[in-house]
Amino acid sequence: MSALLLAGKPAADALLERLKPDIKKLDPKLVVVQVGEDPASSSYIKQKMKSCEAVGMRHEHLHLDAAISKEKLFEEIDQLNNDSDVTGFIVQLPLPSHLQEFVPDVIKAIDPKKDVDGFGAYNLGKMFLSTEFEHLPPATPSGIIELLNFYKIDPAGKHVVVVGRSNIVGKPIAVMLLNRDATVTITHSKTKDLVSLTKQADILIAAVGKPHLITADMVKPGVVIIDVGMNRTEDGKLVGDCDFDSLEKIASAITPVPGGVGPLTVASLMRNCVTAKKRQMEV
Ligand code: GUN
Repeated sequence: MSALLLAGKPAADALLERLKPDIKKLDPKLVVVQVGEDPASSSYIKQKMKSCEAVGMRHEHLHLDAAISKEKLFEEIDQLNNDSDVTGFIVQLPLPSHLQEFVPDVIKAIDPKKDVDGFGAYNLGKMFLSTEFEHLPPATPSGIIELLNFYKIDPAGKHVVVVGRSNIVGKPIAVMLLNRDATVTITHSKTKDLVSLTKQADILIAAVGKPHLITADMVKPGVVIIDVGMNRTEDGKLVGDCDFDSLEKIASAITPVPGGVGPLTVASLMRNCVTAKKRQMEV
């Protein structure tokens, strides 16, 4: 069996195309704050800016010095909160080591109406209620849902096993799938007998950041594999959390890395900017 390739680009392009009329009409503006020079962050931000350009969304890359003080960073956040021309902004993570302990405070400081990353308690909390309240959901889980929709993979009644329990992927995707009637198991580094659970998955979502953690002997034939991992190997290659070569022979569908979930994360961020602008205009 050869698996269906769940390429992200056509799904992301379709979403971006749908957003274009609203972008033209509402003219939202996204600001991406980068602190320091983390190379992975620089590459992600480049993709976000490129995508804004492609759909005609106003955008700004606010690049702050790696040595910026905590106080100055919070001043910048305050300014963005109070700038009525800025629809939404994100602070790209990770932060430099001297600021890393303040990440929860940084997230808390962002006005929930402008929190287009959907990382804050207000937007996450609403997401728990039902699909109807997923107003600004985190971009990667939201992108996974979009990918499943695009390829007509209905999670209702399926057993989804999520590997990884991060606040930005594992936990929120579990909730969003529960909202869509999936039966969800979340596994993590302390899970006993991981394989006995992954073997039950109709849909397996890997988001741990461990190259090739999931191999073909850990899943059942026909599984759908969503690989959120983005790991840089020593020879500079990007690989996911799943062993693509062995899994594509047994899975019914699988995302490539790169080119799977990534483009949808970016497109979902754009969608959140449009949603944020619409909701700001309602008030
Ligand atoms: N670092 C990796 N992914 C993300 C993301 O989606 N948002 C932010 N702010 N930082 C990230």
